[in-house]
Amino acid sequence: MYVAQPIAWTVRGVTMLDQRRLPAEEISYTYTDYREVAKAIREMVIRGAPAIGVAAAMGVALGVLHSSAESVDALTTELREICATLSETRPTAVDLSWALERMCIRFAEFTAQTSDLAKIKQAMVEEAQQIHLEKKATDEGIGRFGAEFMPREGQVMTQCNAGALATGGIGTALGVIRVAYEQGKKLHVLVPETRPYLQGARLTAWELHKGGIPLTLITDNMVGHFLKSGKVGAIVTGADRIAANGDTANKIGTYQMAVLAKENSVPFYIAAPVSTFDLSIPDGDGIPIEERSAAEVTHLQGVRIAPDVHAAHPAFDVTPARYIAAIFTERGVALAPYTESLRALASSPQSAVTAR
Ligand code: MRU
Repeated sequence: MYVAQPIAWTVRGVTMLDQRRLPAEEISYTYTDYREVAKAIREMVIRGAPAIGVAAAMGVALGVLHSSAESVDALTTELREICATLSETRPTAVDLSWALERMCIRFAEFTAQTSDLAKIKQAMVEEAQQIHLEKKATDEGIGRFGAEFMPREGQVMTQCNAGALATGGIGTALGVIRVAYEQGKKLHVLVPETRPYLQGARLTAWELHKGGIPLTLITDNMVGHFLKSGKVGAIVTGADRIAANGDTANKIGTYQMAVLAKENSVPFYIAAPVSTFDLSIPDGDGIPIEERSAAEVTHLQGVRIAPDVHAAHPAFDVTPARYIAAIFTERGVALAPYTESLRALASSPQSAVTAR
């Protein structure tokens, strides 16, 4: 089945598929400077929590690789600057800071062993590639655990795009749907368009269509209507950050979907890697919410659709844990109470466990 490739490390640099141009055009760029990678993340050439983590790691690798520093100390100073630039790009998805931290830990480990700059640079490139590889394996694990919770047939709903484009693997929420579909479950996906950036209409519809999975595109204000119909068996979405108590930040619109799901007795699931947990934040109130340009609300694909008035664009919202029926991860399935199950999964080995 078709799997989109949003990012790759190549001999020429970091290649990214420009997600802003989809579905109309499939155009890729190759970046050789970490500042270009930071700009690409900020401007949504690449987006989706795990994918921007991979992009940030590759940005660090690029920055270190092309550094003219002549000592480990000078390279360490540059690494700090590279990480600061990349970490300022998007605030909500914790995978980004997770990936930067992991690159820095690897740098510290390696420079404790050697001062050979060529070897250090090579190790950083390898670590970024390793993070990308692990994301692919992680998605497969999430997919396997989550697929068991999908209905045998009928409609399922998602939000935004939590597919291959958002992770660099098979996707988290769409990975669950894909695995279930490949297992023979006869699913039909309801895809809300996800205003204002239209990740549902432009990206999820594109991915599912290319993968041959049946879908119906709906506008965001149809969500309640479809949930009330009694025909939707489950909702599965991705996540950008999960607080210690299970409160989950995801694309704007997810919260109202979860509330409507509860009202209509439709189970609402989250699919996300353990790297999306932020156990340092007790609950959703501490999750930073990115405010994007109001022009993305007043304009659609560059065309003005509203008068020149004040508009707001919080890019994410927080769904309280009480609306979440389960959280699928690569290490198992977390159920309420999440304060315990998330902590158990975070400290468990990579092997599969079901935490309760
Ligand atoms: O603003 P975006 O497109 O980066 O937002 C993406 C989402 O909200 C996704 O649902 C989330 O990152 C999970 S991606 C597997």
